[in-house]
Amino acid sequence: MQAFPQLVFSGVQPTGNLHLGNYLGAITKFVALQDTHDCIYCVVDLHAITVAQKPSELTSNIREVTAAFIAAGVDPTRHIVFNQSQVAEHAELAWIFNCVARIGWLNRMTQFKEKAGKDRENASVGLYAYPTLMAADILVYRATHVPVGEDQKQHLELARDIAQKFNNDFLVDNPAYADGKGFFPLPEPLIQGPATRVMSLRDGSKKMSKSDPSDNSRINLADDGDTIAQKIRKAKTDPDALPSALEGLAGRPEADNLVGIYAALEGKTKLNVLQQFGSGNFSTFKSALVDLTVAKLAPIGSEMRRLQADAPYIDGVLRDGSNRARERAAKTMSAVRDIVGFVR
Ligand code: TYM
Repeated sequence: MQAFPQLVFSGVQPTGNLHLGNYLGAITKFVALQDTHDCIYCVVDLHAITVAQKPSELTSNIREVTAAFIAAGVDPTRHIVFNQSQVAEHAELAWIFNCVARIGWLNRMTQFKEKAGKDRENASVGLYAYPTLMAADILVYRATHVPVGEDQKQHLELARDIAQKFNNDFLVDNPAYADGKGFFPLPEPLIQGPATRVMSLRDGSKKMSKSDPSDNSRINLADDGDTIAQKIRKAKTDPDALPSALEGLAGRPEADNLVGIYAALEGKTKLNVLQQFGSGNFSTFKSALVDLTVAKLAPIGSEMRRLQADAPYIDGVLRDGSNRARERAAKTMSAVRDIVGFVR
């Protein structure tokens, strides 16, 4: 029963080493949605500081993510590109959501468990409350669609639970919302295609990640063509040839991952890729994957470097985007303050 105007929102953390997983799982989707939707893309710097960041590195990582969005094809003039810390309404709504979400809900978040590791007592309170800020990011614009990789699915479910509980708790006796539509939409994750969970190039059972100590485990968006080629040539595989049917990928996580990457970069399905390369020599497929990946990513990497060298331009994009985002967020917060019952 959703009748909210469609709006896309998503965010990427400026924590360095942006990689092929971020690109295929999220950024390519951001680009594709621009023709059909109103879109807001956020560099989530408040999320980044839930773990320690060196201030000067944070600054350059914020510019790196912004440059990556633009180099990949996000248009900051038609849509909104900004950094979270410039729109204080995110933090304000997150506080209200801290009072809506239940401790039991946050205790179930697998990302907190992974990131906090064994030393949970020493994790920041911000890391624990991370998902309520993420819900606020989306809902402060009343966004309806959120393109993300598979790893964010649980956070999106929590955002829906928070929206639902806010609507239930605060609107029951409010005649302005007697139609039952609610104030916040229940945002839908958009997790589609062959590369929603890109795996490490060194270990097909581990997600490709910014924090993996081995740089060979991931292809960074900033890597040049030679580095990309080398990493793919070194990528772990098994001794068998590629199968011609999807079932043949079962139990072969490394092969499955590389086929998924090829399919996503080429805009095809995994089956299409197997039809093209199945039964052939693995090395033939790998060479084609090297060519395709270099052709798609190397130009993005060099455009990123060009944009990053122009900090005044990047900062101007973020300032302009933040001004436009703030206008929208302020409207939501004004209504939220009334709904909660604050005097103003
Ligand atoms: P972050 O910065 O870890 O990742 C950014 C996006 O990249 C996706 N991703 C992957 N996709 C496929 N394979 C992988 N190996 C891979 N690794 C990362 C992530 O799913 C994500 O879409 N919590 C979010 C940031 C965030 C956000 C939001 C997202 C904050 N507020 C509101 C959407 C809406 C995060 O840590 O993403």
